[in-house]
Amino acid sequence: MSLALLPLKIILVSIDLFIALITFQWIGVVKKLLTPTPMRSVPVGNDESHRVNTKNKGNLKNSTVEGVTTLHELAQFACKKYGHRNAMGLREYLGPHSPKVQKFGEVSWRTYDQVKDASLKFGASLRSAGLVASPEKATLDKLTTPCTLAIFENTCPEWMIAALGAYSQSISITTVYATLGTNAVIDSINDGKIRAIVCNKKSVKMLLGKLGDMPTLKVIVYTNNMIAPGEKVDLPAAPKGVTVLSFDDFVNAGDTKAFTIVPPKPDTAAVIMYTSGSTGKPKGVVVTHRNVLASTTIVDGVMTENDSIICYLPLAHIFELVAEISSLSAGACLCYADPKTLTQTGAYPIGALEQYKPTIMVGVPKIWDVIKKGVQAKIGGESKVKQFLVNTAFETRMMARKLGYDTPLFNALVFKKFAKVVGGRLRLAISGGGPLNSDVQDFISTCFGIPMGQGYGLTETCAALTIQDIATDDRAGIAGMPVPCVEVKLVSCPEINDKLGFPYLSTDRKDVKGDAVFGRGEVWVKGANVGLGYYMMPDATKKEFDEDGWFHTGDIGQFASDGSLQIVDRKKNLIKLKGGEYIAVENMEMTYGNSRFVDAVAGGVCCYGDGDMDRPIALVQLNQIVVMNWAKENGIVDDFNAVKNSKELYDAVMKDMEREHKNASLGHNEKLIAIAFISDDPWTPENGCLTAANKLQRRAVVEKHDKIFKETCKKGIF
Ligand SMILES: *[C@@H]1O[C@H](CO)[C@@H](O)[C@H](O)[C@H]1NC(C)=O
Ligand SMILES: *[C@@H]1O[C@H](CO)[C@@H](O)[C@H](O)[C@H]1NC(C)=O
Ligand SMILES: *[C@@H]1O[C@H](CO)[C@@H](O)[C@H](O)[C@H]1NC(C)=O
Repeated sequence: MSLALLPLKIILVSIDLFIALITFQWIGVVKKLLTPTPMRSVPVGNDESHRVNTKNKGNLKNSTVEGVTTLHELAQFACKKYGHRNAMGLREYLGPHSPKVQKFGEVSWRTYDQVKDASLKFGASLRSAGLVASPEKATLDKLTTPCTLAIFENTCPEWMIAALGAYSQSISITTVYATLGTNAVIDSINDGKIRAIVCNKKSVKMLLGKLGDMPTLKVIVYTNNMIAPGEKVDLPAAPKGVTVLSFDDFVNAGDTKAFTIVPPKPDTAAVIMYTSGSTGKPKGVVVTHRNVLASTTIVDGVMTENDSIICYLPLAHIFELVAEISSLSAGACLCYADPKTLTQTGAYPIGALEQYKPTIMVGVPKIWDVIKKGVQAKIGGESKVKQFLVNTAFETRMMARKLGYDTPLFNALVFKKFAKVVGGRLRLAISGGGPLNSDVQDFISTCFGIPMGQGYGLTETCAALTIQDIATDDRAGIAGMPVPCVEVKLVSCPEINDKLGFPYLSTDRKDVKGDAVFGRGEVWVKGANVGLGYYMMPDATKKEFDEDGWFHTGDIGQFASDGSLQIVDRKKNLIKLKGGEYIAVENMEMTYGNSRFVDAVAGGVCCYGDGDMDRPIALVQLNQIVVMNWAKENGIVDDFNAVKNSKELYDAVMKDMEREHKNASLGHNEKLIAIAFISDDPWTPENGCLTAANKLQRRAVVEKHDKIFKETCKKGIF
């Protein structure tokens, strides 16, 4: 087939190249050839493995806006400068269109002036409800006054207005993932001596029912986020001494004359942010105004007032909070959406991306993977000739973009249609919250013709640590250059070996592939963005935040020859098999998740190994559509369940996994020895199998599928 179409391919590629030539696109190639690769970081002193961003040698930058020292000042600055411009948009929710599709109406906008007005009133109302200013200098000790507002709600404009309102009165916030269960809410209310909470109207009944377990909670403010007009929500009467009010009523009651602004100090706590660690009780990272402000330097010079950004990741995740606050600092517009309704598959009449046409989108790896698989599924449904055309287009454009030009013919024939999936105006994509698969990165950037960069950071570093130089760096698999507020160093891990059996040392000058590096080792970071530590957990804090101000990330990295950081391994997530060999399960999950048989939306792949096993196994969420297409191609006529249980499918998927294993050159002990299929039982934050940030909770997954898991494990023991 593809041989017969080869002449067509040659003709298309030639025409495309011809158009590129006569439209002077070769200038881009020449420019790219003549521009030397910039050095993206420089050493501090003589230690090559201890570096800062080239621009910030001797001058770390701790705020995007000169002279601004707190988030309250930042909000005041933005509202003054961009007052009449749109700050926030929200689509009217009209209820379900069908079981899996939600219906939406028009977008309503709030200007910066309106946001300022509402937030100052909200802050004043908090004060009249009995909340008080936080200590000027935050500590990790248990709070003794009602100086914290809890927010237990999905991402929506009210979330951000409430946070800015709290800051105007020096009140800090604590975030509770909206997807976490009741006990997580009760714990954080009690830990923080919380007096007031912002939540969804649908959560009020649950909170009222648990008041006995939360003696400090006196004020419940509810939003109508994702509640359709006319939808009935049960709102029981509140007992004496407890107030339940709608968000709008609470704002309108704000008396800004009686309760004037109490500006926070740089060292005042801004957020107690609970991390979605993969094991044990969540840790609350105490993050000050100074910390968040320093993190906003991540967008230095990237965003302008003409940008709009799609906001859909949980705001209880530091990555989204920093992205939104950074956007406000640049005067950009925040377009709020529900993550399940970004595209037409979940929304009627159109997806949020199509409606808002954002220019910037940040996402976690899973989201990009879902978008990639969505596009691929569409392509897979086309005729063989069309598929061939699209694949040719992808190959050609990927190569062209690496060389510095674009593919005008293929853009018109193929890519224009794809661009609509993300609205058509997207100019920049940023991925964070975990390592991004390089195939996915190349695919998204080629498909939409946009630069796509990775950011790397943790809750403890307030999301920021490194970010890829999107203007000049189109490589996949790069964590990026240090952000303007940090210094980063690599610390030797003599006890951990790479795939070739050599330890990671800060003095290394070659990596595992033989490429030149400036040291390898555990990534340590220091700077104004590094949080104070874990709330009420002095011992856990001491383990990771040292006395000299360095935070130890637990990730193993290397500085590439251009000074960019690459994350190559994990200290914590290495699992020792029976033979004493380590496997990196997260990396394996990312690799095997590439297989077309895997359903990323349902949670992907869960790899497992332990000290009793010789080789690892995996539970695999099957993509039913792909499986049935595969069956058809192979002449198997049966229903899904029969196909799922067939030896043929098992062998085909195993073969595909082997291909991925080889392709990613994983270690020989990282080869799967057995797999088991899951279908119709997705892993979600609601059932605890994913964290709210969409990271796999391995323990919950294996408990959920206990029987099948144990049977599969047996095959991993020789
Ligand atoms: C935003 O767009 C307007 C109108 O196109 C333009 O005049 C202005 O310079 C732009 N602002 C920035 C910061 O690019
Ligand atoms: C930024 O903060 C660091 C400490 O975290 C400090 O050493 C540095 O001087 C600050 N930079 C500026 C420009 O204030
Ligand atoms: C890995 O597989 C992808 C396709 O899934 C392919 O484009 C790429 O070239 C392969 N990489 C290697 C190193 O074989």
